[in-house]
Amino acid sequence: MAIMTLDLFKPATLAGMTLRNRLIRSATHESLADGSGAPCAALEKLYTALAEGGTGAIITGYAGVQQDGKSSLMNMLMINDDSLIPAYRKLTDAVHGHGTPIILQIAHCGRQTRSVVTGMPTVAPSPLKDFIFNEERPHELSVGEIETIIGSFVAATGRARKAGFDGVQLQMAHGYLLAEFLSGYTNRRSDRWGGSIANKFRIVSEILRRIRTEEGDYPVLVKINGFDHRRRGMRPLEAIEIARMLEASGCSAIEVSSGTVEEGLSIMRGPLFPAEALLASHFRFMSLPSPIKKALAPLLRLAMPSPKPWRGYNLDATKAIRQAVSIPVIAVGGIHTLENITGVLESDTADFVSMSRPFVIEPNIVRKLQEGRQTASRCIECNYCAIMIEEYPLRCWFGKLPAKKC
Ligand SMILES: Cc1cc2nc3c(=O)[nH]c(=O)nc-3n(C[C@H](O)[C@H](O)[C@H](O)COP(=O)(O)O)c2cc1C
Repeated sequence: MAIMTLDLFKPATLAGMTLRNRLIRSATHESLADGSGAPCAALEKLYTALAEGGTGAIITGYAGVQQDGKSSLMNMLMINDDSLIPAYRKLTDAVHGHGTPIILQIAHCGRQTRSVVTGMPTVAPSPLKDFIFNEERPHELSVGEIETIIGSFVAATGRARKAGFDGVQLQMAHGYLLAEFLSGYTNRRSDRWGGSIANKFRIVSEILRRIRTEEGDYPVLVKINGFDHRRRGMRPLEAIEIARMLEASGCSAIEVSSGTVEEGLSIMRGPLFPAEALLASHFRFMSLPSPIKKALAPLLRLAMPSPKPWRGYNLDATKAIRQAVSIPVIAVGGIHTLENITGVLESDTADFVSMSRPFVIEPNIVRKLQEGRQTASRCIECNYCAIMIEEYPLRCWFGKLPAKKC
């Protein structure tokens, strides 16, 4: 334990970057962008706090590569235009001032968004409705539109590099567009973009091939699903194949997550489904009268039980993937105590550990763990942060709503 604790807090190399330790801030949407998608001053303040707090590297909240892939959550970062580069440069300079690498997560939300927010039809590999997001059926992407999206990911990577990011991370997990191509649940295509694993992977291999041509060995990390709970969806054996293909395509590191938004809170788990927060902030429920919300809360909890286990739920898939590839692997998902973290590293389950919710409540959690002031995060896994982000900038709610929101 003592030796591993030392290793955890020793500098380590990830995709050519030097991290002061093996603890990474996993991508966390902050709702701290302006109307154009540029980072606000409050985001710089948050990232500075994370860097000062000892975080090994910061992965930003997801940034949209084109307008129809913008999140329906408010104030998403965008990286779809060169005019955004100077604002991002200011952000990366501030973080680098503390010796901390910063990676831009880039994403297209696919069918997990709403056209009332993007102003454009929602798009997906196949025209299948998402239960949570779509009032309308998404438009099935044409081959030309797929090529445009590939170009947008490549252009976004070029902008990230010009803005001083140390690398990008492709959001290929959680049911967003690239995950929709990889999963048989959402990809029903019979052309060369669907069917076999190689066909479903084609959009990713094309993105990586073009990034490698245009940006050389610039670090490109990915976040993938080791599994989801959808019929015909992602399963660990297929995820292992995908991990091997990622390595062969020049990917620099793999973070292993799971789940889709449609499954309820299986991406970030907790003991109780946060029904009150959902009723207070979700577009489908927020305008309902209070007595109806009160009656609905227990029903929602019954309909959407929180999957178990709540801790370390991606670790089996992560370990299997790590054994199949030689690029670094990052573990994420309910790893919230020093014992959990050192356990992941000691058991060779992953090379790095990333966390999201522990940094929401304590941006300086790494320093506290390192100095022995705490052995665990104070996060109670209420998941209000994940739900209330629809209406408010990122913050810890600690399981309580302001009175007027109830
Ligand atoms: C408020 C919030 C926002 C999130 N935003 C993103 C995101 O933009 N991109 C992403 O890949 N994952 C996102 N996640 C998922 C986390 O990165 C992480 O995979 C998940 O929360 C499990 O890790 P944890 O137990 O350490 O919180 C978000 C999670 C939370 C709580």
